[in-house]
Amino acid sequence: MIVALASAHPYDTIDADLPLLVDALSQHGVETVIRYWDDPQARWDDVAVTLVRSCWNYIERREAFLAWAERIPHLQNTADILRWNTDKTYLRDLADAGIDVVPTHWDVRTTEELPAALEWVVKPSVSAGSADTARWAMPDDAVAHSRALQDAGRTAMVQPYIASVDAQGETAMIYIEGRFSHAIVKGPRLTQDSAAGTEPTRAESVVATTPEPAHHDAAERVLGICRDRGLDPLYARIDLVEDASGRQLLLELELTEPSLFLPHAGGAADRLADAVLRRVAG
Ligand SMILES: Nc1ncnc2c1ncn2[C@@H]1O[C@H](COP(=O)(O)OP(=O)(O)O)[C@@H](O)[C@H]1O
Ligand SMILES: [Mg+2]
Repeated sequence: MIVALASAHPYDTIDADLPLLVDALSQHGVETVIRYWDDPQARWDDVAVTLVRSCWNYIERREAFLAWAERIPHLQNTADILRWNTDKTYLRDLADAGIDVVPTHWDVRTTEELPAALEWVVKPSVSAGSADTARWAMPDDAVAHSRALQDAGRTAMVQPYIASVDAQGETAMIYIEGRFSHAIVKGPRLTQDSAAGTEPTRAESVVATTPEPAHHDAAERVLGICRDRGLDPLYARIDLVEDASGRQLLLELELTEPSLFLPHAGGAADRLADAVLRRVAG
């Protein structure tokens, strides 16, 4: 049996989860191949499952990526999950369903439309790895960024900068087949702006953590809404940040191509390999 791990050049060389997954699957007697989703020569009909991994360049070509996903016979997560999850407008659906989401204002064009905040984060709704995302202290800068995104045909999101991220980071809760696997804390990604503007930092600090009951509750409520929508993701990452009153807010639900931080959690690669094989059997 062959399992394909879908990646993209050159991300397969920096995806820290891939080698552990290859290893764990091979210990189950499964051969793995790493293929690029955007390689027109790649075949996908000779594999039992294709697992979406570091396809991080899809953000410039979302429709092509989704067309590829719809063509692939045994894809995890499935194409319907990817279609919903590759545009952060899914946060609106989750907020409508009662989830505590980081307050988000859409397609802001004037300073009057900004939420009350000391600083703002502006980002496009189709993004990954903090691309085109920035943190602003001046209302005019936030609005200019939001307008520039819209003028480029993108959906713009404006959020208050959640201050606890600077000291506490964000908590990423990783679930395999709906069961909690492990959690990590990721440090802040956005530097305070300067007169010259802001570029997201690329450095990422990651440490394993033992989450509190509030993290589990928040993450499991999000997964409950996915189930209500008929979605059954093989893997899920729920990124949470704490607001000023201590509530856990959803920053991001990653059902597409999340880093799963497998090197930070003993046994996690093995659990994922097991789950992949269960999906083949099912
Ligand atoms: N509202 C916010 N408050 C504080 N930090 C934020 C906020 N939005 C984004 N960030 C920072 O920017 C990073 C990237 O934003 P995120 O929404 O996770 O998008 P993506 O990871 O898809 O690029 C986060 O990991 C976090 O460090
Ligand atoms: Mg993120």
